[in-house]
Amino acid sequence: MVTEMSVHEMYSHMRAALRDVVPDFELRYKAKLACEINRLKVQKNAVILGHNYMEPALYHSIPDFTGDSLELSRKAAQTDKDIIVFCGVLFMAETAKILNPDKTVLIPSQRAGCSLAASITAADVRALKERFPGVPVVVYINTYADVKAEADICCTSGNAKAVVESLGTRAAIFLPDEYLARNVARETGKHIIFPTLTPHAGDQELDYQLIGWPGRCEVHERFTVEDIRNVRAQFPDVVILAHPECSPEVVQAADFSGSTTAMIRYVERTAAPRYLLLTECAMGDNVAAANPGKEMLRLCSVRCPHMNQITLEDTLRSLQLDQYVVEMPEEIRRRAAQAVERMLAIG
Ligand code: 13P
Ligand code: SF4
Repeated sequence: MVTEMSVHEMYSHMRAALRDVVPDFELRYKAKLACEINRLKVQKNAVILGHNYMEPALYHSIPDFTGDSLELSRKAAQTDKDIIVFCGVLFMAETAKILNPDKTVLIPSQRAGCSLAASITAADVRALKERFPGVPVVVYINTYADVKAEADICCTSGNAKAVVESLGTRAAIFLPDEYLARNVARETGKHIIFPTLTPHAGDQELDYQLIGWPGRCEVHERFTVEDIRNVRAQFPDVVILAHPECSPEVVQAADFSGSTTAMIRYVERTAAPRYLLLTECAMGDNVAAANPGKEMLRLCSVRCPHMNQITLEDTLRSLQLDQYVVEMPEEIRRRAAQAVERMLAIG
């Protein structure tokens, strides 16, 4: 928590973490922005939640809490502040609003979307439920509120296997990330199918335990087994970590797979000298800053264009102008809240 600092104290605080990652003149400029944001945050009784993908200067200066989607959902559920500013993407800010109908939730950019959230509509989910009546629906947190409203329960990359197992049913519909679904199917030993939306005569005979959807993360789908082979050929001692939105082949070729926070914890507790994170590149900078003795390799041609919309400048404007307010119809929020709260109750 770095709320009550002078510009010089903020600059020193950021420099202590980021001197090997961000040039000094940029730190001085960003320290001023961060102080003004933190001053307004206190004045307006706001809390700032920052996803692990935030750029290093923002990540190390203004969030009251940082974390993966699951941790930030929990923080959003617990806050007593009047305003939540979400430095992340829209589905995350929506989740905060779903859990806090009486608070103002702000997202600093209207362009912070997500290819997974855009890959499925509420009508798609209804069509699948009609085709497979009675089969419980799990939706990834990377979906919009109207899709969550159609689900029985949500999950994140940090608890997907536990959520599926918590259902205690023979089968489940798991939407919309094809690769996360395939990875969960492999971990749970379940047979997965990817059906169309139209009912077929032979539906009763279909053999499945998970039903998936062909959504993809436009970032993680780009990592390949060949990338891993190339990096290992050059750096035989590298430890490779892959987010579960990567393909099952990539996940299996990596040394570890887990949510963004699980990857951070894995690097912290592993003694190896060199790592590659197959995920948004900015997280490599944040992990490098926290682990000065460890080297982080970067594949920064692969970036999340949505997470990268969130800047200190936009966050300052967000607090100055109360923009952009995240809202949804109450009937959708109420149904979506059931799915999110069921997930949070799993622990
Ligand atoms: P985490 O929940 O693991 O932070 O993932 C969110 C995300 O969007 C990954 O691309
Ligand atoms: Fe969505 Fe992928 Fe970006 Fe995460 S990295 S916000 S899943 S597009």
